[in-house]
This record gives sequence, C-alpha cells and structure tokens, in this order.
Amino acid sequence: MNPTFKTPVPPSRLPAVGTTIFTVMSALAQQHGAVNLGQGFPDFDCDPRLLDAANAALRGGHNQYPPMAGVQLLREAVAAKIEALYGRRYDPEREITITAGATQAILTAVLAIVHPGDEVIVLEPCYDSYVPAIELAGGHVVRVALTAGSLRPDFDAIGAALTPRTRAIIVNSPHNPSATVWRAAEVRRLADLLAPTDVIVISDEVYEHMVYDGAPHASASTLGSLAARSYVVSSFGKTFHVTGWKIGTVAAPAALTAEFRKVHQFNVFTVNTPLQYALADYLADPAPYLQLGAFYQAKRDLFRAGLAATRLRLLPCEGTYFQCVDYSAVSDLDETAFCRWLTTEVGVAAIPLAPFYADGRHQQLARLCFAKRDETLRSALERLARL
Ligand SMILES: Cc1ncc(COP(=O)(O)O)c(C=O)c1O
Repeated sequence: MNPTFKTPVPPSRLPAVGTTIFTVMSALAQQHGAVNLGQGFPDFDCDPRLLDAANAALRGGHNQYPPMAGVQLLREAVAAKIEALYGRRYDPEREITITAGATQAILTAVLAIVHPGDEVIVLEPCYDSYVPAIELAGGHVVRVALTAGSLRPDFDAIGAALTPRTRAIIVNSPHNPSATVWRAAEVRRLADLLAPTDVIVISDEVYEHMVYDGAPHASASTLGSLAARSYVVSSFGKTFHVTGWKIGTVAAPAALTAEFRKVHQFNVFTVNTPLQYALADYLADPAPYLQLGAFYQAKRDLFRAGLAATRLRLLPCEGTYFQCVDYSAVSDLDETAFCRWLTTEVGVAAIPLAPFYADGRHQQLARLCFAKRDETLRSALERLARL
C-alpha cells in the first residue's frame, strides 16, 4: 500500500476480538508437525455420492440465484427430516430458511431480534461466535456459567439471569466444547422457565446427529411450547463431513422466520445454488445422517480407550466430536500454556477451554477433536501415551 496516503481506521466494532485460539493452535501444529486435534473438522472426505450429486447439479445448470429462502427442494427435504425425527411439521415456504452455515444463521437471528440494550443470555463455555454476534447487534451479553464440574446447564442460574430486558437465550446441544447432551427433562425445564416470558431461544443444534449410547437428541423442536419461541439452527457441514460447504438451516415459526429473512435478504441474500440441489438429492436417503452417531461413536470409543491408558482424565463424551480431558495429573501449567506445550513438545494440538469463557478461567481442561481418520487418532494416542 502507498504509505503517503493515510488509511482512516475507525474505532473497532469488536475491540475485544483478536486472532482466535483455533488459528493460533493450527499454525503452531503445522509449524511443529503436530497431529492437529485442535480445530473441529474431519481429516477425511465426504461420501462420493454427495460429490456426484454436487457435480450433477453444477453440470445440470443450477448455477444462478436460488430463491432467497433457499432451494425449494432442499427446504422440503429439511422439513420432512425434522418431522420424521422430532415430530414437528415446519412449513417449508414460511418456516425453513437455508443459510451460509450455522454461523450466519446465528448472526442473522441475533441481528433480526436483538435491539440495542437488549439482554441475551449465553451459557459459558460457549461457541465463539455468539458473543460477537450479540455485540454487533448492540445487545448486552449476560453470561451464565454451566455447572462447574459437570458442565451441565444450571437452570437456577438461568432463571436468576432472566430480567424484563432479556430478549433471547442461545443454547447449544450437543455442546461444544463440553460434549454434554441435553436430556429431554432439561429441554422441558427450559421451556417451563421461559413459559411466562417473551424470551426467544436460538437453539444451536449443529451436532444433532452426533449423540451416543442410544440417547436421543432432544431438539428444541420436539416441544411445542419451546418450538413456538425458537430458531432451531443446524448445519450440513457437521452432518455430511463438508464443513467447507458452509450450508446450514434455520427452522422457526413463521413470525420469527419473517423477521429472520428480512435480515438474511440483505446479509447474504441467497446461498450457493448447486450445493443446495446436491444436498436435497442426498437427503433422500436418511442412512448417512442416521448412521453418523454410530460412525463417530466408534471413533470416540477408540480414542477414549487409548486416552484411558494415559494420565489424562477423561470427561464424559455424550455427543459432538470433541473429548475434554483434565490434565491436572500431568501438569500445573495454565490451559493455554499446556496446549502450546502439548503441541510443541508432545506433538498433539489441543484447544484450551479458557478462551470459551469471558473471564478466561483455568480449570486444567483441554478439548481434543476426534473427527479424524483412525490412523490419525492412533498416531495422536501414541504420542499422548508418553505423557
Ligand atoms: C457449536 C457450533 N455452532 C456453530 C458452528 C458453526 O457451524 P458452520 O460451520 O455451519 O457455520 C460450530 C462449528 O464449529 C459449532 O461448533
């Protein structure tokens, strides 16, 4: 850039945001040739049938703008899937929207409903896009910690955080980073707690098909009273091993969807056409998403069996493709220093939990991602066995 001209730099809209821990750890992993179990994405490719469907859509002339709300066939397929799995019928015309991944869905939902000064509750530790989304909308972030130790929702604390200014609460199950999965009774508890309020729920369910040991996924859409106040968000990236496709879905009652689409229209307007056709085609067979739980449960079991032989203490893993470990028997280092050390000296990249909290608290916990080929997991386990 020509240094003679001054670039005006405005005050930051997100002054607290810097380089994310995921970027930092991935760069460190690459530099040190570490096995990267940090960032949450598969190191294997998707089903070739999905690629064939994408190819057919590209070659089949589906390359212009789709309808603003998403390709009709895909919205119909998503509505049918939700109805089959959770027993609730959403109208594909007025209640299902296709988004550029769950991250855009969450930001758009927040921008659509949060006015400056509104309070929005997040349950910490939480996925890193929630807080900046609320701040961009001018909302006030109200942080409620998950129960220490179990990392399950603390409904007394959530109840205490509700005020007349609470506009929304963002919940996430199966939960990143804790790998806990809400039980039906917990979803009911949330519905009861919110029943006397006008609070809107943004329910981040991107790991809906990664629930283990025969437990069901208790979607916010299963309960009428909760579905009536919820944006239910999911993502094909997680379900079909295509995180780079960035295509997600939002199911919400017509009145909430109408507000959502007002923002969506000027935020992305529409989402990649051919990949929507490919997904609509691929969804005709439910086997890939119905078998995802068993697929990842086998990886979880392989990974946990190996970790059990190390000095890392395993936290429960009920869902997602993350496994949290307590490393207090191995090291006194704080979480970020430990994860750096693990990457550079042991050769396995992990993510500290501290950055998922506003106060950066250290609990000697680290998150490992097992969405990896079995040989990658074995190679990481060999290194971790030296701890
Ligand atoms: C809890 C949670 N929500 C949302 C997302 C983002 O999903 P997408 O890639 O579809 O934007 C992620 C990705 O890691 C996640 O873990």
